[in-house]
Amino acid sequence: SFTPNAFVDDCVKELQEKVGNDKVVLGLSGGVDSTVAAVLLNKAIGKNLYCIFVNNGLLRKNEFENVLHQYKDMGLNVKGVDASERFLAELTDVEDPETKRKIIGRVFVEVFDEEAHLLKDVSWLAQGTIYPDVIESVSVKGPSATIKSHHNVGGLPDFMKLKIVEPLRMLFKDEVRRVGATLGIDAELLGRHPFPGPGLSIRILGAITPEKVRILQEVDDIFIKGLKEHGLYDKVWQAGAILLPVNSVGVMGDERTYEKVVALRAVESTDGMTADWVHLPYDFLMKISNEIINKVKGVNRVVYDISSKPPATIEWE
Ligand code: XMP
Repeated sequence: SFTPNAFVDDCVKELQEKVGNDKVVLGLSGGVDSTVAAVLLNKAIGKNLYCIFVNNGLLRKNEFENVLHQYKDMGLNVKGVDASERFLAELTDVEDPETKRKIIGRVFVEVFDEEAHLLKDVSWLAQGTIYPDVIESVSVKGPSATIKSHHNVGGLPDFMKLKIVEPLRMLFKDEVRRVGATLGIDAELLGRHPFPGPGLSIRILGAITPEKVRILQEVDDIFIKGLKEHGLYDKVWQAGAILLPVNSVGVMGDERTYEKVVALRAVESTDGMTADWVHLPYDFLMKISNEIINKVKGVNRVVYDISSKPPATIEWE
């Protein structure tokens, strides 16, 4: 059976032998896999690990600042790069979901390449690839997959000419979490719901604007905080909010309103391949709905998604 302590010891030794005194660059996403990979490498090679955490402007509310702070507290050698405006500018007027994904993947590669360039004499690229990513590489999505798919394009960014090191490539997700716990990584960070690489862009149906990002961040924050406060967060595999591209009529005081609709989504799943909607308590939904409509300007209606996967998907785009 898998013993996280032994894995950490062996892995640190192997990394030291493999990498020696070379410099390694790694992209942090705020997720479990890249974080555990970074902490392992940090343990093995310390300051020769250069981490880059890119803000694409589509993260959860305050996520960039909070997670960057957490990374620094963990002793990681990390640089936060706020490229929000660049991503949002490139996404202006883009409505098609796959085009959004492609743009975000491309801009991420560009930003990462520029940053990697600033580092002198780096010879390795570390990635938080885990075993399911290796065996299902066709269905893998996210920054690492984006990087791989660019391999075929020709004219590789410089950082992709680096040698690859993937310390978690033989591990399943639960094993990664156990390794993370052994390494002393905060339980809250290890218990985080999955979050898609393209972030809120695929939860804002249609064209993205800074104002829509702000609205969705507020709504999402109320929902996620509410789940945590009511002890529901850990019973849910993934949760989030979706900003719909329709307005609906409402009433506020004596005034007629005509504002945005948001959908809440919470699913149970083991791997994201199939999923059931979670039967969240009515009282909880009532409270969250009231809070969203009272606090978030521009939203006057909240609906709850009761579709399972298949035939629906988890994300709406
Ligand atoms: P779907 O919507 O396909 O989502 O049922 C299944 C899981 O994959 C996540 N997802 C993504 N993750 N890049 C990612 O890194 C993407 O483009 C992407 N699209 C979906 C989704 O959040 C869920 O966990």
